[in-house]
Amino acid sequence: MNICVVGAGHVGLVTAVGFAEMGHSVICMDTDPKKLALLRKGKPWFFEPGLAPLLVKNLKKKRLSFTDKIADGVKKCPILFIAVGTPPLASGEADLTAVEDVVRQIADSATEYRLIVEKSTVPVETGRRVKQVLGLAMRRKIQIDVASNPEFLREGSGVEDFFHPERIVIGVETARSRQLLEQLYKPFKVPLVVTDIASAELIKHSSNAFLSMKISFINAVSVLCDKVGADVSRVAEGMGYDSRIGKSFLNAGAGYGGFCFPKDLEAYIRIADKLGYDFQLLKAVKQVNDGQRKIVVQKIERELWNLKGKVIGVLGLSFKPDTDDLRFSPALEVIEMLLKAQASVRVYDPESMAGARAMLKKSVAYAKDAYAAARDADCLVLMTEWAEFKKLDFKKLRDLMKQPVLMDARNLYDPDRVRLAGLRYLGMGRGGDSK
Ligand SMILES: NC(=O)c1ccc[n+]([C@@H]2O[C@H](COP(=O)([O-])OP(=O)(O)OC[C@H]3O[C@@H](n4cnc5c(N)ncnc54)[C@H](O)[C@@H]3O)[C@@H](O)[C@H]2O)c1
Repeated sequence: MNICVVGAGHVGLVTAVGFAEMGHSVICMDTDPKKLALLRKGKPWFFEPGLAPLLVKNLKKKRLSFTDKIADGVKKCPILFIAVGTPPLASGEADLTAVEDVVRQIADSATEYRLIVEKSTVPVETGRRVKQVLGLAMRRKIQIDVASNPEFLREGSGVEDFFHPERIVIGVETARSRQLLEQLYKPFKVPLVVTDIASAELIKHSSNAFLSMKISFINAVSVLCDKVGADVSRVAEGMGYDSRIGKSFLNAGAGYGGFCFPKDLEAYIRIADKLGYDFQLLKAVKQVNDGQRKIVVQKIERELWNLKGKVIGVLGLSFKPDTDDLRFSPALEVIEMLLKAQASVRVYDPESMAGARAMLKKSVAYAKDAYAAARDADCLVLMTEWAEFKKLDFKKLRDLMKQPVLMDARNLYDPDRVRLAGLRYLGMGRGGDSK
Protein backbone atom coordinates (compact mmCIF):
# COMPACT_ATOMS: atom_id res chain seq x y z
CA MET A 1 0.00 0.00 0.00
CA ASN A 2 1.16 3.59 -0.60
CA ILE A 3 1.02 5.54 2.65
CA CYS A 4 1.78 9.17 3.45
CA VAL A 5 2.65 10.25 6.99
CA VAL A 6 2.57 13.99 7.64
CA GLY A 7 4.89 14.99 10.50
CA ALA A 8 8.25 13.23 11.00
CA GLY A 9 8.31 13.44 14.79
CA HIS A 10 8.20 11.00 17.68
CA VAL A 11 4.95 9.51 16.37
CA GLY A 12 5.14 10.26 12.64
CA LEU A 13 8.67 8.99 12.06
CA VAL A 14 8.14 5.79 14.05
CA THR A 15 4.88 5.19 12.16
CA ALA A 16 6.48 5.88 8.77
CA VAL A 17 9.47 3.63 9.49
CA GLY A 18 7.19 0.95 10.96
CA PHE A 19 4.90 0.80 7.91
CA ALA A 20 7.93 0.78 5.60
CA GLU A 21 9.40 -2.14 7.57
CA MET A 22 6.11 -3.99 7.02
CA GLY A 23 6.72 -3.66 3.27
CA HIS A 24 4.56 -0.63 2.47
CA SER A 25 5.77 2.25 0.35
CA VAL A 26 5.86 5.30 2.61
CA ILE A 27 6.29 9.01 1.94
CA CYS A 28 6.94 10.99 5.09
CA MET A 29 6.35 14.75 4.95
CA ASP A 30 7.62 17.44 7.30
CA THR A 31 8.00 21.22 7.10
CA ASP A 32 11.35 21.37 8.92
CA PRO A 33 14.27 21.29 6.43
CA LYS A 34 16.85 20.51 9.14
CA LYS A 35 14.97 17.41 10.27
CA LEU A 36 14.47 16.31 6.65
CA ALA A 37 18.19 16.71 5.89
CA LEU A 38 19.11 14.46 8.83
CA LEU A 39 16.41 11.90 8.05
CA ARG A 40 17.47 11.57 4.41
CA LYS A 41 20.95 10.67 5.74
CA GLY A 42 19.38 7.98 7.93
CA LYS A 43 19.70 9.93 11.17
CA PRO A 44 16.65 10.37 13.42
CA TRP A 45 16.59 13.89 14.91
CA PHE A 46 15.66 12.51 18.36
CA PHE A 47 16.77 9.52 20.43
CA GLU A 48 14.50 6.50 20.20
CA PRO A 49 15.91 2.99 20.79
CA GLY A 50 15.97 0.80 17.67
CA LEU A 51 14.75 3.50 15.28
CA ALA A 52 17.99 4.45 13.46
CA PRO A 53 18.81 0.99 11.97
CA LEU A 54 15.26 0.56 10.65
CA LEU A 55 15.35 4.05 9.14
CA VAL A 56 18.62 3.29 7.34
CA LYS A 57 17.39 -0.12 6.17
CA ASN A 58 14.13 1.19 4.70
CA LEU A 59 15.79 4.16 3.01
CA LYS A 60 18.19 1.72 1.34
CA LYS A 61 15.34 -0.53 0.24
CA LYS A 62 13.62 2.58 -1.17
CA ARG A 63 10.44 1.84 0.77
CA LEU A 64 10.71 5.16 2.58
CA SER A 65 11.28 8.69 1.32
CA PHE A 66 11.02 12.18 2.77
CA THR A 67 9.50 15.31 1.29
CA ASP A 68 8.54 18.83 2.27
CA LYS A 69 5.53 18.86 -0.06
CA ILE A 70 2.24 17.30 0.98
CA ALA A 71 1.23 17.18 -2.70
CA ASP A 72 3.89 14.45 -3.26
CA GLY A 73 2.07 12.25 -0.75
CA VAL A 74 -1.43 13.17 -1.91
CA LYS A 75 -0.55 12.27 -5.50
CA LYS A 76 0.60 8.73 -4.71
CA CYS A 77 -1.07 7.65 -1.47
CA PRO A 78 -4.72 6.77 -0.82
CA ILE A 79 -4.12 6.98 2.96
CA LEU A 80 -2.65 10.06 4.62
CA PHE A 81 -1.86 9.99 8.34
CA ILE A 82 -1.67 13.31 10.15
CA ALA A 83 0.95 13.08 12.90
CA VAL A 84 1.83 16.75 13.41
CA GLY A 85 2.18 18.33 16.83
CA THR A 86 -0.88 19.50 18.76
CA PRO A 87 0.84 21.62 21.45
CA PRO A 88 -1.05 23.46 24.18
CA LEU A 89 -2.15 27.06 23.74
CA ALA A 90 -1.83 29.42 26.72
CA SER A 91 -5.46 28.57 27.54
CA GLY A 92 -4.62 24.84 27.77
CA GLU A 93 -6.63 24.07 24.63
CA ALA A 94 -4.90 22.05 21.91
CA ASP A 95 -3.42 24.15 19.11
CA LEU A 96 -4.89 22.50 16.02
CA THR A 97 -3.64 25.00 13.44
CA ALA A 98 -1.08 22.53 12.01
CA VAL A 99 -3.84 19.91 11.61
CA GLU A 100 -6.08 22.41 9.82
CA ASP A 101 -3.19 23.52 7.61
CA VAL A 102 -2.45 19.95 6.54
CA VAL A 103 -6.12 19.23 5.79
CA ARG A 104 -6.39 22.36 3.62
CA GLN A 105 -3.31 21.37 1.65
CA ILE A 106 -4.69 17.89 1.09
CA ALA A 107 -8.00 19.41 -0.08
CA ASP A 108 -6.07 21.61 -2.52
CA SER A 109 -4.10 18.84 -4.16
CA ALA A 110 -6.37 15.76 -4.06
CA THR A 111 -7.66 14.66 -7.46
CA GLU A 112 -9.14 11.29 -6.48
CA TYR A 113 -10.43 9.43 -3.38
CA ARG A 114 -8.28 9.94 -0.29
CA LEU A 115 -8.54 8.92 3.36
CA ILE A 116 -7.27 11.39 5.96
CA VAL A 117 -6.44 9.69 9.26
CA GLU A 118 -5.96 11.65 12.49
CA LYS A 119 -3.05 10.06 14.33
CA SER A 120 -2.13 13.16 16.31
CA THR A 121 -3.90 13.32 19.65
CA VAL A 122 -6.83 15.67 19.14
CA PRO A 123 -9.85 16.66 21.22
CA VAL A 124 -13.21 15.10 20.51
CA GLU A 125 -15.03 16.84 17.63
CA THR A 126 -11.80 17.47 15.69
CA GLY A 127 -13.00 14.95 13.09
CA ARG A 128 -16.15 17.00 12.66
CA ARG A 129 -14.03 20.13 12.21
CA VAL A 130 -11.80 18.41 9.66
CA LYS A 131 -14.88 17.45 7.62
CA GLN A 132 -16.14 21.03 7.89
CA VAL A 133 -12.82 22.36 6.51
CA LEU A 134 -12.91 19.82 3.67
CA GLY A 135 -16.50 20.78 2.85
CA LEU A 136 -15.49 24.41 2.43
CA ALA A 137 -12.04 23.95 0.90
CA MET A 138 -12.59 21.19 -1.69
CA ARG A 139 -12.77 22.52 -5.21
CA ARG A 140 -13.12 19.18 -6.99
CA LYS A 141 -16.05 16.80 -6.60
CA ILE A 142 -14.24 13.82 -5.12
CA GLN A 143 -14.78 11.81 -1.95
CA ILE A 144 -12.40 12.36 0.94
CA ASP A 145 -13.01 10.30 4.06
CA VAL A 146 -11.85 11.17 7.55
CA ALA A 147 -10.92 8.62 10.22
CA SER A 148 -9.33 8.61 13.65
CA ASN A 149 -6.54 6.20 14.55
CA PRO A 150 -5.11 7.41 17.85
CA GLU A 151 -1.54 6.46 18.71
CA PHE A 152 -0.64 4.78 21.98
CA LEU A 153 3.12 4.30 21.54
CA ARG A 154 5.39 5.38 24.38
CA GLU A 155 8.59 7.28 23.80
CA GLY A 156 11.53 5.10 24.74
CA SER A 157 9.77 1.96 23.48
CA GLY A 158 8.11 3.51 20.44
CA VAL A 159 9.43 1.02 17.88
CA GLU A 160 8.53 -1.98 20.03
CA ASP A 161 5.10 -0.47 20.68
CA PHE A 162 4.50 0.09 16.95
CA PHE A 163 5.05 -3.59 16.16
CA HIS A 164 3.39 -4.92 19.32
CA PRO A 165 0.52 -2.63 20.28
CA GLU A 166 -1.96 -3.79 22.92
CA ARG A 167 -4.88 -2.67 20.77
CA ILE A 168 -5.56 -0.69 17.63
CA VAL A 169 -8.41 1.80 17.62
CA ILE A 170 -9.99 3.07 14.43
CA GLY A 171 -12.84 5.55 14.29
CA VAL A 172 -14.51 5.41 10.88
CA GLU A 173 -17.76 6.36 9.25
CA THR A 174 -17.67 4.84 5.78
CA ALA A 175 -17.28 1.23 4.64
CA ARG A 176 -14.41 2.25 2.35
CA SER A 177 -12.32 3.85 5.07
CA ARG A 178 -13.00 0.93 7.41
CA GLN A 179 -11.92 -1.56 4.76
CA LEU A 180 -8.69 0.36 4.02
CA LEU A 181 -7.67 0.58 7.67
CA GLU A 182 -8.67 -3.03 8.43
CA GLN A 183 -6.52 -4.18 5.53
CA LEU A 184 -3.58 -2.07 6.69
CA TYR A 185 -3.74 -3.40 10.24
CA LYS A 186 -4.55 -7.04 9.32
CA PRO A 187 -1.04 -8.35 10.12
CA PHE A 188 -1.36 -7.16 13.74
CA LYS A 189 -2.89 -9.95 15.80
CA VAL A 190 -4.31 -7.67 18.49
CA PRO A 191 -7.83 -6.44 19.30
CA LEU A 192 -9.06 -3.97 16.68
CA VAL A 193 -11.58 -1.60 18.21
CA VAL A 194 -13.74 -0.10 15.47
CA THR A 195 -15.84 2.89 16.52
CA ASP A 196 -17.24 6.17 15.27
CA ILE A 197 -14.74 9.04 15.06
CA ALA A 198 -15.80 10.85 18.24
CA SER A 199 -15.51 7.66 20.32
CA ALA A 200 -12.00 6.99 18.97
CA GLU A 201 -10.96 10.54 19.83
CA LEU A 202 -12.38 10.09 23.32
CA ILE A 203 -10.61 6.74 23.79
CA LYS A 204 -7.23 8.45 23.39
CA HIS A 205 -7.88 11.41 25.68
CA SER A 206 -9.61 9.21 28.26
CA SER A 207 -6.75 6.68 28.28
CA ASN A 208 -4.12 9.36 28.92
CA ALA A 209 -6.31 11.11 31.49
CA PHE A 210 -6.92 7.81 33.30
CA LEU A 211 -3.20 7.01 33.48
CA SER A 212 -2.47 10.54 34.73
CA MET A 213 -5.17 10.02 37.35
CA LYS A 214 -3.53 6.81 38.57
CA ILE A 215 -0.21 8.64 38.96
CA SER A 216 -1.78 11.56 40.80
CA PHE A 217 -3.74 9.17 43.02
CA ILE A 218 -0.63 7.41 44.29
CA ASN A 219 1.18 10.75 44.58
CA ALA A 220 -1.60 12.07 46.81
CA VAL A 221 -1.28 8.88 48.90
CA SER A 222 2.49 9.46 49.11
CA VAL A 223 1.86 12.83 50.77
CA LEU A 224 -0.16 11.09 53.47
CA CYS A 225 2.54 8.40 53.80
CA ASP A 226 5.08 11.12 54.55
CA LYS A 227 2.85 12.49 57.28
CA VAL A 228 2.41 9.16 59.09
CA GLY A 229 5.72 7.43 58.32
CA ALA A 230 4.21 4.82 55.98
CA ASP A 231 5.93 3.60 52.80
CA VAL A 232 4.00 4.37 49.61
CA SER A 233 5.83 1.70 47.62
CA ARG A 234 4.48 -0.96 50.00
CA VAL A 235 1.00 0.61 49.86
CA ALA A 236 1.14 0.51 46.04
CA GLU A 237 2.38 -3.09 46.10
CA GLY A 238 -0.48 -4.13 48.34
CA MET A 239 -3.02 -2.34 46.16
CA GLY A 240 -1.52 -3.57 42.90
CA TYR A 241 -2.17 -7.28 43.54
CA ASP A 242 -5.86 -6.48 43.11
CA SER A 243 -6.40 -7.21 39.41
CA ARG A 244 -9.02 -4.48 39.24
CA ILE A 245 -6.31 -1.98 40.19
CA GLY A 246 -3.09 -3.43 38.72
CA LYS A 247 0.50 -2.53 39.55
CA SER A 248 1.45 -0.23 36.70
CA PHE A 249 1.37 3.54 37.02
CA LEU A 250 1.32 3.37 40.79
CA ASN A 251 4.83 4.75 41.24
CA ALA A 252 4.88 7.84 43.43
CA GLY A 253 7.39 10.53 42.53
CA ALA A 254 7.86 13.94 40.98
CA GLY A 255 4.78 13.47 38.79
CA TYR A 256 4.21 12.96 35.10
CA GLY A 257 5.59 15.15 32.31
CA GLY A 258 6.34 14.85 28.60
CA PHE A 259 4.51 15.89 25.47
CA CYS A 260 1.42 13.77 26.13
CA PHE A 261 -0.04 13.60 29.63
CA PRO A 262 0.18 17.28 30.70
CA LYS A 263 -1.11 18.74 27.45
CA ASP A 264 -3.69 16.03 26.81
CA LEU A 265 -5.14 16.38 30.29
CA GLU A 266 -5.39 20.16 29.87
CA ALA A 267 -6.95 19.82 26.44
CA TYR A 268 -9.45 17.28 27.79
CA ILE A 269 -10.44 19.63 30.62
CA ARG A 270 -10.87 22.50 28.12
CA ILE A 271 -12.95 20.55 25.58
CA ALA A 272 -15.16 19.26 28.40
CA ASP A 273 -15.61 22.88 29.57
CA LYS A 274 -16.54 23.92 26.04
CA LEU A 275 -19.07 21.11 25.86
CA GLY A 276 -20.60 22.28 29.15
CA TYR A 277 -19.09 19.73 31.56
CA ASP A 278 -16.88 20.78 34.44
CA PHE A 279 -14.44 17.82 34.64
CA GLN A 280 -13.40 18.52 38.25
CA LEU A 281 -11.83 15.10 38.68
CA LEU A 282 -9.22 15.92 36.03
CA LYS A 283 -8.59 19.38 37.46
CA ALA A 284 -7.63 17.72 40.74
CA VAL A 285 -5.31 15.33 38.87
CA LYS A 286 -3.44 18.32 37.43
CA GLN A 287 -3.31 20.09 40.79
CA VAL A 288 -1.76 17.07 42.52
CA ASN A 289 0.77 16.70 39.70
CA ASP A 290 1.85 20.35 39.86
CA GLY A 291 2.27 19.98 43.63
CA GLN A 292 4.75 17.09 43.35
CA ARG A 293 7.51 19.26 41.86
CA LYS A 294 7.08 21.73 44.72
CA ILE A 295 7.30 18.89 47.25
CA VAL A 296 10.68 17.82 45.81
CA VAL A 297 12.10 21.32 46.29
CA GLN A 298 10.48 21.73 49.74
CA LYS A 299 12.08 18.50 50.92
CA ILE A 300 15.53 19.62 49.79
CA GLU A 301 15.01 23.00 51.42
CA ARG A 302 13.87 21.44 54.68
CA GLU A 303 17.03 19.36 54.73
CA LEU A 304 19.56 22.02 53.70
CA TRP A 305 17.82 24.98 55.37
CA ASN A 306 18.75 27.78 52.93
CA LEU A 307 19.05 26.95 49.25
CA LYS A 308 20.92 30.15 48.39
CA GLY A 309 24.49 29.27 47.43
CA LYS A 310 23.99 25.51 47.88
CA VAL A 311 25.15 23.21 45.10
CA ILE A 312 22.50 20.79 43.88
CA GLY A 313 23.42 17.97 41.50
CA VAL A 314 20.53 16.84 39.28
CA LEU A 315 20.55 13.33 37.78
CA GLY A 316 18.26 13.00 34.76
CA LEU A 317 16.64 15.71 32.69
CA SER A 318 14.36 13.97 30.17
CA PHE A 319 10.78 13.46 31.30
CA LYS A 320 11.42 9.71 31.52
CA PRO A 321 14.27 7.28 30.77
CA ASP A 322 15.22 6.09 27.26
CA THR A 323 14.24 9.32 25.55
CA ASP A 324 15.96 12.68 25.13
CA ASP A 325 12.58 14.45 25.13
CA LEU A 326 12.63 17.41 27.51
CA ARG A 327 9.17 18.74 26.76
CA PHE A 328 7.28 19.43 30.01
CA SER A 329 9.92 17.53 31.94
CA PRO A 330 9.49 17.64 35.74
CA ALA A 331 13.30 17.91 36.06
CA LEU A 332 13.31 21.24 34.24
CA GLU A 333 10.58 22.60 36.51
CA VAL A 334 12.50 21.55 39.62
CA ILE A 335 15.70 23.12 38.25
CA GLU A 336 13.79 26.33 37.55
CA MET A 337 12.59 26.42 41.20
CA LEU A 338 16.07 25.69 42.56
CA LEU A 339 17.58 28.49 40.48
CA LYS A 340 14.87 30.86 41.66
CA ALA A 341 15.90 30.04 45.23
CA GLN A 342 19.48 30.96 44.19
CA ALA A 343 20.95 27.47 44.40
CA SER A 344 23.74 26.46 42.00
CA VAL A 345 22.62 23.63 39.77
CA ARG A 346 24.83 21.05 38.09
CA VAL A 347 23.11 18.51 35.82
CA TYR A 348 23.81 15.22 34.10
CA ASP A 349 21.65 13.14 31.73
CA PRO A 350 22.82 10.29 29.49
CA GLU A 351 21.02 11.58 26.35
CA SER A 352 19.51 15.05 26.85
CA MET A 353 22.51 17.30 27.54
CA ALA A 354 22.53 18.98 24.11
CA GLY A 355 18.81 19.73 24.26
CA ALA A 356 19.12 20.97 27.84
CA ARG A 357 21.80 23.53 26.91
CA ALA A 358 19.28 25.12 24.56
CA MET A 359 16.50 25.16 27.14
CA LEU A 360 18.07 25.85 30.52
CA LYS A 361 19.41 29.11 31.95
CA LYS A 362 23.10 29.87 31.27
CA SER A 363 24.04 29.58 34.94
CA VAL A 364 23.41 25.80 34.93
CA ALA A 365 26.59 23.67 34.90
CA TYR A 366 26.93 20.38 33.02
CA ALA A 367 28.68 17.32 34.45
CA LYS A 368 30.21 14.48 32.44
CA ASP A 369 28.62 11.76 34.58
CA ALA A 370 26.66 11.20 37.80
CA TYR A 371 29.76 11.28 40.00
CA ALA A 372 30.91 14.60 38.51
CA ALA A 373 27.43 15.97 39.25
CA ALA A 374 27.79 14.83 42.89
CA ARG A 375 31.26 16.33 43.50
CA ASP A 376 31.11 18.88 46.36
CA ALA A 377 27.32 19.00 46.07
CA ASP A 378 25.09 19.67 49.08
CA CYS A 379 22.39 17.44 47.67
CA LEU A 380 21.96 15.07 44.74
CA VAL A 381 18.46 14.83 43.22
CA LEU A 382 17.46 11.84 41.12
CA MET A 383 14.84 13.14 38.66
CA THR A 384 14.81 10.53 35.87
CA GLU A 385 15.27 6.82 36.53
CA TRP A 386 17.78 5.96 33.77
CA ALA A 387 19.17 2.41 34.07
CA GLU A 388 22.73 3.69 34.69
CA PHE A 389 21.55 5.53 37.83
CA LYS A 390 20.30 2.26 39.33
CA LYS A 391 23.88 1.04 39.60
CA LEU A 392 25.44 4.04 41.35
CA ASP A 393 28.06 3.42 44.02
CA PHE A 394 26.52 5.17 47.06
CA LYS A 395 29.71 5.09 49.13
CA LYS A 396 31.59 6.82 46.31
CA LEU A 397 28.84 9.42 46.10
CA ARG A 398 28.98 10.04 49.85
CA ASP A 399 32.76 10.57 49.69
CA LEU A 400 32.43 13.01 46.80
CA MET A 401 29.64 15.12 48.25
CA LYS A 402 29.93 18.10 50.56
CA GLN A 403 26.76 17.11 52.37
CA PRO A 404 25.57 13.51 51.90
CA VAL A 405 21.93 14.11 50.96
CA LEU A 406 20.19 12.07 48.27
CA MET A 407 16.73 13.20 47.16
CA ASP A 408 15.19 10.28 45.30
CA ALA A 409 12.34 12.01 43.44
CA ARG A 410 11.45 8.76 41.60
CA ASN A 411 11.64 6.33 44.52
CA LEU A 412 14.24 4.37 42.56
CA TYR A 413 16.43 3.24 45.45
CA ASP A 414 16.10 1.01 48.49
CA PRO A 415 16.24 3.60 51.32
CA ASP A 416 18.07 1.18 53.66
CA ARG A 417 20.86 0.56 51.13
CA VAL A 418 21.33 4.29 50.67
CA ARG A 419 21.39 4.91 54.44
CA LEU A 420 23.83 2.03 54.95
CA ALA A 421 26.31 3.86 52.71
CA GLY A 422 26.11 6.88 54.98
CA LEU A 423 23.81 9.06 52.87
CA ARG A 424 20.68 10.84 54.09
CA TYR A 425 17.77 9.43 52.08
CA LEU A 426 14.81 11.60 51.09
CA GLY A 427 12.08 9.88 49.09
CA MET A 428 8.52 10.60 48.04
CA GLY A 429 6.35 9.04 50.75
CA ARG A 430 8.94 6.42 51.78
CA GLY A 431 8.40 6.06 55.48
CA GLY A 432 9.08 9.67 56.38
CA ASP A 433 12.35 11.57 55.96
CA SER A 434 13.02 11.72 59.66
CA LYS A 435 15.02 8.47 59.87
N1 LIG B 1 5.25 11.69 21.66
C1 LIG B 1 4.49 10.69 22.03
O1 LIG B 1 4.87 9.80 22.80
C2 LIG B 1 3.08 10.59 21.50
C3 LIG B 1 2.34 9.40 21.71
C4 LIG B 1 1.05 9.33 21.22
C5 LIG B 1 0.50 10.42 20.57
N2 LIG B 1 1.22 11.56 20.41
C6 LIG B 1 0.61 12.67 19.69
O2 LIG B 1 1.11 12.68 18.35
C7 LIG B 1 1.21 14.03 17.88
C8 LIG B 1 2.64 14.31 17.45
O3 LIG B 1 3.47 14.23 18.62
P1 LIG B 1 5.03 14.06 18.47
O4 LIG B 1 5.56 13.77 19.83
O5 LIG B 1 5.35 13.13 17.34
O6 LIG B 1 5.44 15.56 18.06
P2 LIG B 1 6.82 16.02 17.43
O7 LIG B 1 6.95 17.45 17.77
O8 LIG B 1 7.89 15.07 17.80
O9 LIG B 1 6.58 15.86 15.86
C9 LIG B 1 5.71 16.68 15.13
C10 LIG B 1 6.33 16.88 13.74
O10 LIG B 1 5.38 17.58 12.92
C11 LIG B 1 6.10 18.51 12.13
N3 LIG B 1 5.15 19.52 11.70
C12 LIG B 1 4.63 20.57 12.40
N4 LIG B 1 3.74 21.24 11.64
C13 LIG B 1 3.70 20.62 10.45
C14 LIG B 1 2.96 20.82 9.25
N5 LIG B 1 2.08 21.82 9.15
N6 LIG B 1 3.15 19.98 8.22
C15 LIG B 1 4.04 18.95 8.34
N7 LIG B 1 4.76 18.70 9.43
C16 LIG B 1 4.59 19.52 10.48
C17 LIG B 1 7.20 19.01 13.05
O11 LIG B 1 8.28 19.57 12.32
C18 LIG B 1 7.60 17.73 13.78
O12 LIG B 1 8.64 17.05 13.12
C19 LIG B 1 0.72 14.90 19.04
O13 LIG B 1 -0.64 15.16 18.84
C20 LIG B 1 0.93 14.04 20.23
O14 LIG B 1 0.06 14.36 21.29
C21 LIG B 1 2.50 11.67 20.85
